[in-house]
Amino acid sequence: MSKTILITGGAGFVGSSMALSFKAKYPSYEIYVLDNLKRRGSELNIPRLKSAGIHFIHGDIRNKEDFDGIPKIDCILEASAEPSVLSGIDSTPDYLINTNLSGTINCLNFATKNKSDFIFLSTSRIYPIERIESIAFEEKETRFEIAAKQNFAGISEKGLCETFPLEGYRSLYGTTKLASEYFIQEYKQFFGLRTVINRCGVLTGPWQMGKIDQGVVVLWLAKHFWKQQLSYIGYGGEGKQVRDMLHTDDLFRLIDWQMHHLEKVNGEIFNVGGGREISVSLNELTSFCQQITGNTIPIHKVPENRTADIRIYITDNSKVTERTGWKPEIMPQQILEDIFKWMKEHAAQLEMILK
Ligand SMILES: NC(=O)c1ccc[n+]([C@@H]2O[C@H](COP(=O)([O-])OP(=O)(O)OC[C@H]3O[C@@H](n4cnc5c(N)ncnc54)[C@H](O)[C@@H]3O)[C@@H](O)[C@H]2O)c1
Repeated sequence: MSKTILITGGAGFVGSSMALSFKAKYPSYEIYVLDNLKRRGSELNIPRLKSAGIHFIHGDIRNKEDFDGIPKIDCILEASAEPSVLSGIDSTPDYLINTNLSGTINCLNFATKNKSDFIFLSTSRIYPIERIESIAFEEKETRFEIAAKQNFAGISEKGLCETFPLEGYRSLYGTTKLASEYFIQEYKQFFGLRTVINRCGVLTGPWQMGKIDQGVVVLWLAKHFWKQQLSYIGYGGEGKQVRDMLHTDDLFRLIDWQMHHLEKVNGEIFNVGGGREISVSLNELTSFCQQITGNTIPIHKVPENRTADIRIYITDNSKVTERTGWKPEIMPQQILEDIFKWMKEHAAQLEMILK
């Protein structure tokens, strides 16, 4: 049966990747993307979306009126956001709150009116900073590792799971996302929406417009590609901080499954990421980038931590794997090669944004 899908933030990195993957797999689906093009580089996706037959709506989720005229939708994938963890900290948080929280509520109201299913891209950043920083760790030659023995629930060598404690500050970005999660649960309960929430770790892949505060994997490769400079910031300046990473093709397999089996995951919250196997420290990321680009660039050491930074984040995918059978498959080497290929093919266009 054909479906009509709305992807908010659908010109962005994740949204456009999901839209194009859905259209390629299900050519009969009608796919609408709504995006205000706030993120630099999202405009590059418009011709790609249009030539795939995807409907682009230049609109803003902060404006209820911008949803008028969108036809009846079977499923909304809410992928719009101001996605930087530093957002709102050095300036006013108005845009952040109005988009990531009030805008999400506009999306929920639109979903309620349409009886659409609702899939939300949340973030690992809903987990509080001090608690993450209190995870017992070991320092190895190239990275920090989560220690085998831990002192509280929700954390193991496999990573953070959904029972990780929620008390504490988490960044304004993380707070807007967690507050949205709470509203989603209320709309499910009281307005009968079918919902699923995915708390994603670092997402990456081609067409991510990496910048200093968001999209570190692409930023790192781009700096090597264009032979510029970088810094290991924080945790002594050794580049040992670790993140798992998930390729958007792996994410698509999950969202696709969820959209077509929503009754099986209705109301669920999942941690979703690359897991221990698909993780890198900055050090290790540098080695991958050197090997793939053939370039070695100066990397400065800045020992002091940056605001809202964390030492280590690894997703424990046990729950999502158990409930859906989904597992990430694309390994770090392949992720970086994929991004490199894209960078080479589109270097002239990307130079202005990524360099
Ligand atoms: N990229 C990651 O590592 C990551 C990790 C966890 C969660 N997420 C979440 O995934 C989603 C997608 O992130 P992304 O990496 O694609 O970011 P992105 O910045 O590439 O895409 C977000 C898109 O939303 C659009 N947008 C911003 N404000 C808007 C508004 N008010 N109205 C309409 N459109 C608006 C932007 O123009 C952009 O195209 C976000 O919800 C983000 O919080 C991303």
